[in-house]
Amino acid sequence: MKKKIFELRDVRFSYLGKYPALQGVDITIEKGSRAAVIGANGSGKSTLLNILDGLIFPDTGSVKFFGAELDEKALADERFNRYFRSRVGLVFQNPDIQLFCPTVKEEIMFGPLNFGFSHKEIKKAFDLIVDVFGIKDLVDRMPHQLSIGEKRKVSMASVLISGPELLLLDEPTAGLDPKTSRGLVDLLNEYHDDGKTIITATHDMHIVEEIADIVHVFSRDKKIIRSGPPAELLADTEFLEENNLIHSHFHRHDGKAHTHPHEHPSHDHTH
Ligand SMILES: Nc1ncnc2c1ncn2[C@@H]1O[C@H](COP(=O)(O)OP(=O)(O)O)[C@@H](O)[C@H]1O
Ligand SMILES: [Mg+2]
Repeated sequence: MKKKIFELRDVRFSYLGKYPALQGVDITIEKGSRAAVIGANGSGKSTLLNILDGLIFPDTGSVKFFGAELDEKALADERFNRYFRSRVGLVFQNPDIQLFCPTVKEEIMFGPLNFGFSHKEIKKAFDLIVDVFGIKDLVDRMPHQLSIGEKRKVSMASVLISGPELLLLDEPTAGLDPKTSRGLVDLLNEYHDDGKTIITATHDMHIVEEIADIVHVFSRDKKIIRSGPPAELLADTEFLEENNLIHSHFHRHDGKAHTHPHEHPSHDHTH
């Protein structure tokens, strides 16, 4: 049986005690899996990732990390905190929240320095990650002055450099051009081939089949209502429409998810 990295049972969470964000979520994350979490805006995807990253804690319900309860008390232990932080990495939806160092170089080196990697290890990992993301020209720049795509690459590099066992990605392709998006998907799949576990929250239906073997769907009432293989879920257009994930122009060609631009050839605009 595959090891379970995370096991969540009946997790409920409200912001400020009054804005419900998760209303009874059950999810199991197996080691080595590739999962996508999909759902309309405001359905709870980012909140779930923040819980998995130990940034917030459920009001009720349980979160188990390798079988042990992950709560504020567990993370208050410095050794466990370091262990957890080096194994679980979250790339935020908004890179401006992630990036805080004066230069790209410091940004990318921050994690490994903090986790106590040796200087030799850091230099090696830095050169590799900068090469992988093609961001050599950016290393002396200020993160806040970069374009959205460049920021996204830097924030992803700053998490991947430490090689987390579980990578959590929040809308990683938002704001990226198709070529950069493509490159990112390939890179993530290589990372997965190295034995890592990846969870991606997205509402980009076009990447779901390429980044996941299992898809968890959030409904508008902030629960996971269905989990299954991408091909099966994406074929159920009625279900996707009901949950605000697609509009009626979405369909599939040759088994690939596909959306047409809005065209209404029979529509008469002259009257
Ligand atoms: N900081 C916050 N304060 C209050 N409500 C929030 C906050 N962040 C998210 N929410 C609410 O929680 C719900 C889930 O949000 P979120 O997890 O960001 O959804 P998604 O990532 O699927 O778009 C939404 O109803 C949203 O309005
Ligand atoms: Mg979100």
